[in-house]
Amino acid sequence: MKNIQLFVPKFRNDEILEHINMCLDKGWTGLGFKTVEIENEWKKYTGLPHAHFINSNTSGLHLAVKILKDSNKWNDGDEIITTPLTFVSSNHAILYENLNPVFADVDEYLCLDPKSVESKITKKTKAVLFVGMGGNTGELHKIIEICKKHKLKLILDAAHMAGTFTKNPLTNNVEHVGHGADVTVFSFQAVKNLPTADSGMICFSNEDYDLLVRKLSWLGIDKDTYQRSNDKGNYKWEYDLVDTGFKYHGNSIMASMALVGLKYLDKDNNRRREICEKYEKELTKNGIQTIKTHEDCVLSSRHLFQIVVNERNKFMELLNSKGIYPGVHYRDNTHYKMYKKSYGSCPNSLNISEKLITLPLHMNLSDEDVDYVIEQVINVNKLIEG
Ligand SMILES: Cc1ncc(COP(=O)(O)O)c(C=O)c1O
Repeated sequence: MKNIQLFVPKFRNDEILEHINMCLDKGWTGLGFKTVEIENEWKKYTGLPHAHFINSNTSGLHLAVKILKDSNKWNDGDEIITTPLTFVSSNHAILYENLNPVFADVDEYLCLDPKSVESKITKKTKAVLFVGMGGNTGELHKIIEICKKHKLKLILDAAHMAGTFTKNPLTNNVEHVGHGADVTVFSFQAVKNLPTADSGMICFSNEDYDLLVRKLSWLGIDKDTYQRSNDKGNYKWEYDLVDTGFKYHGNSIMASMALVGLKYLDKDNNRRREICEKYEKELTKNGIQTIKTHEDCVLSSRHLFQIVVNERNKFMELLNSKGIYPGVHYRDNTHYKMYKKSYGSCPNSLNISEKLITLPLHMNLSDEDVDYVIEQVINVNKLIEG
């Protein structure tokens, strides 16, 4: 019996261990050393001006909201327009800072629909939080324009977007996503395109915020231990506090994993795109609805490949019986008790979230596995549609 899982990370063990051994030999596994290296490599890769390595995307989103709120003097109860179709971390970040998530609806790309976003703007709106679902940019460029027009900050939850390149309509340049947002937060969690165990990167466009996030991710301390260990002279122990901050920074073991992941990111994403092209071609030919990549999204990281089906639970059970274990991204968040009062406020999201299935997509899938998934999805669809 086949056993084809949704996500299975692939690690280049020997190369990772080489980096980790450097940390162990040096006696330095924490903040600094390899974390500095991955930050520099990430800036080079994305062209983004600043990058700070953190322990997860969730922590990064929290810091993003906190820094924008404190620096721009937002009040408790001010609003951030966000999507109900996302992992819970995106909207937790808003609530951590006593702000109010206001849901706007999604479009055919499962990303925020610009028209819906504009219709939700009130006097209290301070920012938009955009999730690049599955690596797709959706109408991100239009959202950037809306934020400029209404003087709103843009937070990009790029958990799925490591290696997504998009065409900038103003310059026609192809660039990594993140340019045009006030802050972009990536996830390098174990099943993401650039897998570690848990880590991420926060990229502010503003240098002051980048300096601040380094302190706030390290308990508000204004000098990191690595920097202090390299200080010459006395006063190594002397530092100041700017805030209570959090223990959210990354470490050199995770950075070792990320450095190797980054080296293979484009190659791995090419393989993802190859698999998705095959899924796309064969499934659409057989009348199965797939989520398309927006035309601006020149190279999607293709973190997810999603189809839209009727009788989702039965569809899943039938695939499970054939040894295929897909996923669902996501349940519309207004199903959760916490957001009950917003239930149904975004009909497209609510409707499609009942029908989405994410097909297996990872580096350990063989061509034969991909063909098998396609064959079984087509069979199950025929059974269900009659
Ligand atoms: C859209 C989205 N945002 C945020 C996160 C949180 O990422 P992390 O696990 O790095 O905190 C995830 C993780 O699954 C995600 O899918």
